[in-house]
Amino acid sequence: MIGRIGPIRGRDGTAHDLRTSRVSIEPFNLRDQPSHDLVIDRLAYWYYHPREWLKKVALMDDVYLLNSPFTFQSMEKHAAYCAMMRLGLHVPETVLVPYKNPVDHAKWAYTAERYNQPFDLDAVAEDIGYPLFMKPYDGGAWVGVSRITDSTALHTAYDQSGERLMHLQQSIEGYDVFTRSLTIGPETMVMKFRPELPMHERYAVEHNFLDAAVGDEVVTISRLVNAFFRWEFNSCESLVRDGVVYPIDYANACPDVALTSLHYYFPWAMTALVRWSAFCVVTGRRPSLDLDTARYFAVADDPALDYRGKLAAYRRIADDYLAVDDYREFCDTALPHVPSLVAEWVSSPDFDDLLVSTVRATYPAHEHDRFIAHFRGLIDLWKRETISP
Ligand SMILES: Nc1ncnc2c1ncn2[C@@H]1O[C@H](COP(=O)(O)OP(=O)(O)OP(=O)(O)O)[C@@H](O)[C@H]1O
Ligand SMILES: [Mg+2]
Repeated sequence: MIGRIGPIRGRDGTAHDLRTSRVSIEPFNLRDQPSHDLVIDRLAYWYYHPREWLKKVALMDDVYLLNSPFTFQSMEKHAAYCAMMRLGLHVPETVLVPYKNPVDHAKWAYTAERYNQPFDLDAVAEDIGYPLFMKPYDGGAWVGVSRITDSTALHTAYDQSGERLMHLQQSIEGYDVFTRSLTIGPETMVMKFRPELPMHERYAVEHNFLDAAVGDEVVTISRLVNAFFRWEFNSCESLVRDGVVYPIDYANACPDVALTSLHYYFPWAMTALVRWSAFCVVTGRRPSLDLDTARYFAVADDPALDYRGKLAAYRRIADDYLAVDDYREFCDTALPHVPSLVAEWVSSPDFDDLLVSTVRATYPAHEHDRFIAHFRGLIDLWKRETISP
């Protein structure tokens, strides 16, 4: 897409030619000068070497990163829950319990004897109420997540948690909609998610599953989380029940954007990624590594504001941080040709090759034909609705 976009004019009339290259993992001197203005990272959540390179280029060279590596390392699920509770969101009741098997080291026995209080796991669970979820405080990809309905299952899960630190969290039962919203810069797509189905069917193609006010609330929460932590490429999961939005998972440094997961929404995601990246480099947007927590907490602590009032105030701060108005204007004036370029690309043999090779890399051979047809169908639907509605 970047290769097809051509020179982009900034406000002062300068033409910018954007080029992309893959960043590779290799030794780096901390004083090396990187050759990139912006990096879209897909590795640092799992691999420490690229993570540390990102920190170096962020601190030393002002390279623009979509997600601050500093908050992504320190703000696991747990810290994100704390921040969003403080801001007044409807985060379900959550308790952090001590390790089942504390990490072993020389001083542990001494420390444990002095500091570890015996506790009644059953009492903690009963306080929250069954069913509840036990899940790692920093988890991802459903590892170690269990829905627990009674004391026996509670003890089994806790015994198995071993050296993982666990939350017990109230379960939002009987929700009406599970939403997963993907935010890229100031663009948010709220999608209906069905976690119980296989990966390729989890994102439903549905458009009117929330009423306008609730939809807007989900957008606000997604942008609030991102602006608060300096994340611009992140997904947020919220459960909606009886019109109340409960955010349950919103620290995903490397959100799934595979064609085989997003399918119909994939062209939207790539468009947003191209436009936001172009906006950042052409306008010279400065990365913001420091957090502005006091500004949000002032809203949270304002006794004159109710939940709706706070949300509206957060939305203004988040939209301001994400440069929503400037970005829209930039899309209209400097990137008006992007939607038709995307349509052309998605209709091209190149795109179909991408689809086929992604399916081949993802599924076993006997499923290739079925899934190629499946994803071609969903992409055709996108084309029908978007190109010639
Ligand atoms: N409080 C809750 N109420 C109801 N369901 C929940 C709750 N917490 C988690 N779940 C269910 O468990 C699933 C996994 O939980 P969660 O998203 O917190 O873990 P994860 O490891 O981050 O998963 P992923 O990386 O796939 O998002 C959720 O998609 C949801 O279906
Ligand atoms: Mg999740």
